[in-house]
Amino acid sequence: MSERTLVLVKPDGVRRGIVGDVISRIERKGLKLVALELRTLERDVAETHYEEHREKPFFGSLVEFITGGPLVAMVVEGPRAIEAFRGLAGATDPVAAAPGTIRGDHALEIQENIVHGSDSTYSAEREIKLFFPNLF
Ligand code: CMP
Repeated sequence: MSERTLVLVKPDGVRRGIVGDVISRIERKGLKLVALELRTLERDVAETHYEEHREKPFFGSLVEFITGGPLVAMVVEGPRAIEAFRGLAGATDPVAAAPGTIRGDHALEIQENIVHGSDSTYSAEREIKLFFPNLF
C-alpha cells in the first residue's frame, strides 16, 4: 500500500547545492514526487513544524537555522515511503549515519543534517497539511 511523507532539503542542503542529489536518490529508489516547492519558512510555520521539540534546548537555534534561507519541501509517495526515505536519509546524527546515506555522505553536524523526513504516519499527515494545505 502506498503512503506519503514530507521531505525537506533544509537551508544547508540548498545552500550547498545538494537538492539534485536528494531528488535523484528519491527517484532512483522508486519513490514518486507529488509536490515540490522552494520557500523560506516564516517563524510560525517553523515552530509548528517542530512543535514536538519546543521544550528541547536546541529549539531556538533549530528555528533560526530552518528559517535562515530557502528550503525545498516535497511530498514523496510510494510503498512504506516514510521508512524508505528515512533509510535514504540515514541517522539524525550525520557522524553516526552510514556512508551511502544522504547524511552519511554529506554532513557532520546534528543540526545541519541536510534533510528532514516525517517519522510516522501521524507526523506525515500533520506536516503535509502544514506545507501543502491544498494537496489532496
Ligand atoms: P530532523 O529530522 O529535522 O528533526 C529535528 C531536528 O532537530 C533534527 O533533524 C536536527 O536538525 C535537529 N536536532 C536534533 N537533535 C539536535 C541536537 N542535539 N542539537 C541540535 N539540533 C538537533
